[in-house]
Amino acid sequence: EPPLLQRGGINMQSGRFDKVNRRSFLKASVAGCTSMLAPALSMAQSDDGFFELTAEKGRARLYGKDGGLSDLWLYNGRLPGPDIRVTRGQRVRVRFINKLDEPTSVHWHGIRIDNAMDGVAGLTQPAVKPGERFDYDFVVPDAGTYWYHAHTMSWNQVPRGLAAPLIVEENEPTFDPALDITMMLNDWRLDDNGVLETGSFGARHDFSHAGRLGNWLTINGASMPQIPLQQGRWHRLRLINSSASRVLDIAPSRFGARVMALDGQSFDAPRDIAGTVRLSPAQRMDLVMRPEETGDIAFETMTGKPFTFATFKVGAATATERSLSMPPANTLPEPDLETARILPLDMAGGAMGGMRGMMTGRTEDDLRKMMQDGLFWAFNGKAGMEETPMFTAARGETIVLESRNDTAFAHAIHLHGHHFRVLERNGEKLENPDWRDTFTTEPDETVKIAFVADNPGKWLIHCHMLGHAASGMMSWFEVG
Ligand code: C2O
Ligand code: CU
Repeated sequence: EPPLLQRGGINMQSGRFDKVNRRSFLKASVAGCTSMLAPALSMAQSDDGFFELTAEKGRARLYGKDGGLSDLWLYNGRLPGPDIRVTRGQRVRVRFINKLDEPTSVHWHGIRIDNAMDGVAGLTQPAVKPGERFDYDFVVPDAGTYWYHAHTMSWNQVPRGLAAPLIVEENEPTFDPALDITMMLNDWRLDDNGVLETGSFGARHDFSHAGRLGNWLTINGASMPQIPLQQGRWHRLRLINSSASRVLDIAPSRFGARVMALDGQSFDAPRDIAGTVRLSPAQRMDLVMRPEETGDIAFETMTGKPFTFATFKVGAATATERSLSMPPANTLPEPDLETARILPLDMAGGAMGGMRGMMTGRTEDDLRKMMQDGLFWAFNGKAGMEETPMFTAARGETIVLESRNDTAFAHAIHLHGHHFRVLERNGEKLENPDWRDTFTTEPDETVKIAFVADNPGKWLIHCHMLGHAASGMMSWFEVG
């Protein structure tokens, strides 16, 4: 069972952090939280028009001022890294410099990008070695909420801090910048001193179960932040889950918000959702909200008991009043279900019985050997990256993936370079076949997705629970 977020932190196996938490949590709520959200940052631009982005070591306090300093890996010394804000259709040029001790690369999650710029070390580019650099140069075709993160040893690099928002504005911005708020949500595994616990990175137990789960949550790197909102104004809240494995359940209706976009793709109209919406690792959810009264509103995760990890402070309005206008939808290629090729995506492996599903064509000895090699999961019976792709699509072909989660755990499956429609769950057609780049699947569930393979190149498909990806749940497909 994954530990739950509650009572000011999670009681991990040791049970000790709980105590530290309770004390500091109380103090924090009495004294009022001091941490404010970092303003959106623009990046230093060089003479030739490239933004400089450096991966380097740094330190930050993850657990408010009572916690110690954690050793992190950061972009431009910031947690999260600098907000990259660009306009739809714009060319983005980033000069990436690696000042870490190990190779890395940058992936622009959710961007329908030129394959050579996708940042997957070993598939679309060689990893950027320590001291070396790589120029990323691409166009952003779609407006919306995206993010960027390390894509080399991601299971180790992302939960040390190498992640940041990438916001693509509509050509005509629909929200006042003061009312357009990015909230990068991240869980961290902290030790008794509130410092990032590093000894368990890559733990086999995490990889074969729900992944590396943290015991503390931050928003834009801040512990228990206060987020200023304006009375009687429409806000856009862009939630990004950058956690390595933590699924966050959000209940927008509890704080008067409605959902307007998922994974960057906006709806025709905001949607009222009763109950919770799952925000899996890598997924984004944009909300609209117009607080009527001044005062405090709790921002909670509903994983386990409701747990408040930020407070909206609603104050008097300073921005001019505007009615709610939805951004225009991006033009994504519509799948042609008549001609679609239907392919399976069978997920097997993991602890608690899932390994059985990996037995086809294997002996007990094979299986033991795979586990020794740290391979616990498989797509279609194959664990990890192989020489040959999972499938090859002709350019423009519609592919339907019929996924089946034959494991005891939830997964968040991400396709690179493409967005897809989620058509069915457990054989039932969905009322809203939303566009996504990452879909959640629960144990025993079948999910049917469709997309047009229109972006030539080699693209990853993997679980965004990063430990699962590292231990087998990762493959690739090729578009001709
Ligand atoms: Cu968010 Cu393969 O990545
Ligand atoms: Cu997974």
